[in-house]
Amino acid sequence: MSELRTDRVVLVTGAAGGMGAGHARALAADGWRVALADVADAGPVVEEIRAAGGTASAHHLDVTEAKLWDRVVAEVTDQYGALHGLVNNAGVSRRLRFMDTTHEVWHRVMAINVDGPFYGIQACAPLLRDSGGGSIVNISSIAGQIGYFSPSYSTSKWALRGLTKSAAGELAAWGIRVNSVHPGLVETPLLEGADGFVDSAVASIPAGRMGRPEEITDVVRFLLGDGSRYMTGGELTVDGGLVSNGLYHRILTEMDGDL
Ligand SMILES: NC(=O)c1ccc[n+]([C@@H]2O[C@H](COP(=O)([O-])OP(=O)(O)OC[C@H]3O[C@@H](n4cnc5c(N)ncnc54)[C@H](O)[C@@H]3O)[C@@H](O)[C@H]2O)c1
Repeated sequence: MSELRTDRVVLVTGAAGGMGAGHARALAADGWRVALADVADAGPVVEEIRAAGGTASAHHLDVTEAKLWDRVVAEVTDQYGALHGLVNNAGVSRRLRFMDTTHEVWHRVMAINVDGPFYGIQACAPLLRDSGGGSIVNISSIAGQIGYFSPSYSTSKWALRGLTKSAAGELAAWGIRVNSVHPGLVETPLLEGADGFVDSAVASIPAGRMGRPEEITDVVRFLLGDGSRYMTGGELTVDGGLVSNGLYHRILTEMDGDL
């Protein structure tokens, strides 16, 4: 189902690559005007979107800098005059065990994965309100729903889940919905070089495979669109059954079905 909304504007962070670029391409194909924000150059993705007939713009943003958020919101206001959606997608993962996580790594991951969305919601909310309300989608992870070995990543994604619920309660009065998405293992550069980890993890996924980036994009589209108009403060797990059934799936597989 394509939701054509040519008047609507969405800001996607971390949109120069990975899943963020995929979200931006798909949303533009749906008719959204897309502001792509990233520390990296989102220009090439913008060119692709324009070549396909869409409307998009690139914005330099380090999500950890509140002042840069204000600048990007000003650019979006100048360029489009409104904002109806925000996808807090930019995020980093450091797969370090608990005792190997340095204070520097801890603070950097928390800054990008938690401070970034917090600053972003604060900076964008007034414009979303003045545009008639909107939808904020925070990309968390299943690491924000279960115990996960890497403390910086897991804590940051749990925090983003809490931030989502806090913001949802406060911003409902402004007609702004806030929900989180919890992807499981998805085939992106974030997991490059982690082949052993991935192979072993897939053995716990009832669906039998990693997720595809477009399967996360479809959920983002749903949460931005009117189909989810009564959803706020919610969380959608998109993981092939890993969180709900991974443990027994693996146990039964290893037992070869012999109970
Ligand atoms: N790949 C997975 O399996 C997976 C699973 C669960 C959740 N996630 C989450 O999905 C989101 C996207 O992941 P991905 O796999 O596409 O990652 P990716 O590394 O491919 O892309 C991340 C993007 O964020 C940008 N970015 C990094 N730091 C930034 C900063 N300070 N300011 C602005 N932009 C910054 C990068 O330049 C990059 O374009 C992340 O929040 C990640 O935690 C990914």
